[in-house]
Parts: sequence; C-alpha cells; structure tokens
Amino acid sequence: MALSGKRILLIVSGGIAAYKAAILVRRLKDAGATVVPILTKGGAQFITPLTLAGLAEHPVYEDLFSLKDEAEMGHIRLAREADLILVAPASADLIGRMANGLADDLASTTLLAADGPVAIAPSMNPVMWANPATQANVHALMSRGVLVWGPADGDMACGEIGSGRLTEPEELVVMAEAFFAPKPLAGKRALVTSGPTHEPVDPVRVMANRSSGQQGQAIAAALATAGADVTLVTGPVSLPPPVGVRVERVQTADEMLAAVQSALPADIAVFAAAVADWRPKDAASEKLKKQAGQDELELRFVRNPDILASIAQGEPRPGLVIGFAAETENLVENAQAKRRSKQVDWILANDVSGGAVFGAPDNAITLVRGEGADGVEAWPELSKSQVAKRLVNRLVEALEGGAKLP
Ligand code: C5P
Repeated sequence: MALSGKRILLIVSGGIAAYKAAILVRRLKDAGATVVPILTKGGAQFITPLTLAGLAEHPVYEDLFSLKDEAEMGHIRLAREADLILVAPASADLIGRMANGLADDLASTTLLAADGPVAIAPSMNPVMWANPATQANVHALMSRGVLVWGPADGDMACGEIGSGRLTEPEELVVMAEAFFAPKPLAGKRALVTSGPTHEPVDPVRVMANRSSGQQGQAIAAALATAGADVTLVTGPVSLPPPVGVRVERVQTADEMLAAVQSALPADIAVFAAAVADWRPKDAASEKLKKQAGQDELELRFVRNPDILASIAQGEPRPGLVIGFAAETENLVENAQAKRRSKQVDWILANDVSGGAVFGAPDNAITLVRGEGADGVEAWPELSKSQVAKRLVNRLVEALEGGAKLP
C-alpha cells in the first residue's frame, strides 16, 4: 500500500466540508497510513471528535492546554513525528493564521512548530477564495514551501459556483501518494497526447471517435507521480484532468499538432491520442441543410498531419518517442512496421479485433521496443492505470540502463 508506514497529521478546521474529513481518514487508512487527527474548535462544529477518532483508530487532539494531550504528546512532538501534515479542510481563517505565524490554538501552534512537509486543501466560498487577502496568504505559504492541494471548482454548499470546493478525499489520497512516491523522473519533461480529435463538418457537426482519453490520462498521471514535468494535450473528453499535470485542450488534429509543437522540447513523448486520419475538406461555414428529395450526402476528406511521425522525425526530437498501434491482425508485424516507418522508439500495440478497447477499463498491450523476439514483450490484460505504471517502470529501467533518453 502506497502510504504504508506513513504518519499523517490531519488537521481538520472549520467549514461545511469538514464532514469529508471522515471519508478522507478512511481513504488514508485504506492506503496504509497512520492518521493522527487534530480538530479545531471550528472543525468540531461540523464533525465530532468521536467520528474522527473511531475512523482513525487514534485519539483526536483538540486542546492546546489539555494536560492529558500535552502529557501524552506535546504539540512539538505531534508536528515532528508526522511524515506529512495535511490541513483538510483548510479554512480561510486557518490559512490566514498560518501565513501570519499565529499560534493561538493547537492546530496553529503545531503548524508553527512544524519543520517537515505541510499540505493544505483549501475549502471556502469562492469569493473568500478569490479575495486578495486569501490569495496573498496562500502565496506567502507557497513561497515557504507549503503544498496547496486545490481547491476544486464546482457547486458550493452555499449555493454559489466557482473555485473553493475541497479537493475530493480520493484525490487528496492520490496527491499524498504522489508526494511520497519515489521521483525517478524528476527533472524530465514529458508530453502526452490523449483522447479523440473532433474534426468539424459544419458549425454544429464534427467527425469524432470513441476514444475516452483514459489511457493517455493514466499515462500522464503516472509520469507526474514519478516526478516528470508533464504536459497533457487532450482532445475533447469528459474525464476530469489528472492532478499535477499541465493540460492543453484542443479539438482538431491541427490544433493538437500545434499544441504538441509548442510543448517541446521534451525528454519523453507518448502519443496515446486517437487522432483522426482524415478531416472534412472545407468544413461548411453554415449548417448543412438537407434538401427535399436528397438521399445522399457526399463529403470530401483530406489527410490530417501525422503528429507522432512529424514529432519523431522533426526537431527538437524528444529523447524517447512512444506511440500506440491499434491493430486487428498481425499485431506485432504491423507494430514493427509502424515503428520503422514513423521512426518511433517504442510502440504499445493492442489487439482491437475483439471490439471494446476504446472506453473500456482494461487493455492487453504488447510492448515493441526493437527488432526480433527480444524487442517484444506481451503484457497480460491490465487496467489502463496498471498499463501506465508498467510503461513508466519500463521508462525508468531504460533510463537507469542508460538508454536513449538525454
Ligand atoms: O497510424 P496509426 O494511426 O495506426 O498510428 C497510431 C499512433 O500514431 C498513435 O500513437 C497515435 O497517437 C499516433 N497518431 C498521431 N497522429 C495521427 C495519427 C496517429 O499522432 N494523425
């Protein structure tokens, strides 16, 4: 489990999202962490210490002046023994007190005494979040190395819409896991394409495909977790973007190529997008109308740029260029041919003859890295996130073995 052996001091401050701290404790425990909760006075208005203690299987600390807490574990020790202090939800008030070095309760005193990593997950009304005072406080904390995990956008409990929602507990756990994960790709720049492209037919219609973007997003997330600086160029998808990744959204293959080119140079480039090979020639400027008696419509198509090939053969060429090949027959032969003709380093080939790979959660990959049987590795059927992790492992091995990466 990714958080095994990690001790997380979870500070729960006041706010309607404090109830989510219960789920967060559960998820952190599920991931193997020891969770030591501190509940502020404000937090205790929204969630009871009993709930947190029960879920954490650990006493909850609340009172700076409680002799029992101090005797059992002083606030200095509380701060120092943690591998990570996570403030979730972090209210505007607590953020302000942190930024100004105040120490008037157990949470703020512990934070002031901390000399290890601290992350805050802000949660407040969007106007409070946007207020220059809050922004200045958050920037002051960031400049001192405090990690800021969120907030998310969306509907707020107060009925307003905007930025200020607590990052979902599941995402906070991913962020904590990423924080503790080894960073073998630190200092490397990675570029990932993902999703379908939409090629306009007329102002309201597009040519598209069923790519969900799951595989590319999983690869972008796994690269980021391994410490790479990742740019994800994605066509239209309904998935929320992965955390810790720079996201460029595009519609067409032409736009994708331009976004990819402006994200260069890169050490690693993974082309997982299902780019349309063709686009309608001269998309109509007005909506195409059906005429009375018309039974057929003819559209002419022109070739789209091959983004993978043009980056693999262009300058500056990424150190390692990785493509996908969806094949219905002669999987390895076709993947090898694609590797050679596009001048790609690695190809992840998948057999799509059975139908559902697009949008499905699993993928059976054959990794083709060189000529002959030695260059071919068949993977079992894996979830798309396992495929991503395995690919990143292979990248790290290649790096450590002194392979092509600059
Ligand atoms: O030629 P084919 O479409 O089978 O090649 C698949 C690989 O090429 C994938 O990695 C895909 O992302 C990439 N590709 C591309 N631009 C295109 C077509 C495919 O980058 N126009």
